[in-house]
Amino acid sequence: MQDRGTPLHVAVIMDGNGRWAKKRLLPRTVGHGAGMKAMIALAKRAKERGVKYFTVYALSSENLSRPKDELEGLFNLIREYFTKNLKELYESNSAVKIIGDISALPQDCAAVLEDSQKNSPKDADFTIIFAVNYGSRPEIIRAVNTAVERGEKVDVNSFSSLLYTDGVPDPDLVIRTGGEVRLSNFLLWQAAYAELYFTDVLFPDFTPKKLDKALDEYARRDRRFGKIKTI
Ligand code: FPP
Repeated sequence: MQDRGTPLHVAVIMDGNGRWAKKRLLPRTVGHGAGMKAMIALAKRAKERGVKYFTVYALSSENLSRPKDELEGLFNLIREYFTKNLKELYESNSAVKIIGDISALPQDCAAVLEDSQKNSPKDADFTIIFAVNYGSRPEIIRAVNTAVERGEKVDVNSFSSLLYTDGVPDPDLVIRTGGEVRLSNFLLWQAAYAELYFTDVLFPDFTPKKLDKALDEYARRDRRFGKIKTI
């Protein structure tokens, strides 16, 4: 049973890798590598804390226009992560889910992502969701077009099931690191009632202890979903 103070689903906008690298006079790709290390530690901590779904914004649809060498660095990190970490993830009964249009990625990367999802344990007790070439607006347009093609009228539930996140509960907590205070096309439909947590900490410095702080703050928030307080 989920503790009321623990979010079922935490989603993270992992911002600040580039600035983290720049401060150290290092290439941006090194910042993304440090970000990947942080992401691995955070997913572990989230699972320990009882979170069941952990979504990370690995690449937005807008990020796809970044310089070729930075993109290649990010694709290499995806290759590295899935080669090194899948076995441990599956053995700990964790699943992988991918959201976004991965058809625009190098073919081997797309295949790695697809296979990691397909081969995931079916009865997993933790799911890490990678948003790759993801943007809420393209996701919503895709869902609308699917409904139109099927000649279907939609309601909130049936529309939700046309999104990449079908079957995943809406995020309870969205965290953005790196100091910007916006959602940048991330889970706009799904985060309708999410609690938002913004921090100036650059993503590679966002340690499990800092995640604990965000989770503790979440536990103190009063979520009313538009209703009034009864006590
Ligand atoms: C935004 O920071 C971050 C990204 C565009 C990429 C995030 C990717 C990772 C942490 C690695 C993910 C790894 C896997 C395996 C999915 P930014 O570069 O925009 O930072 P800045 O605002 O400081 O420039």
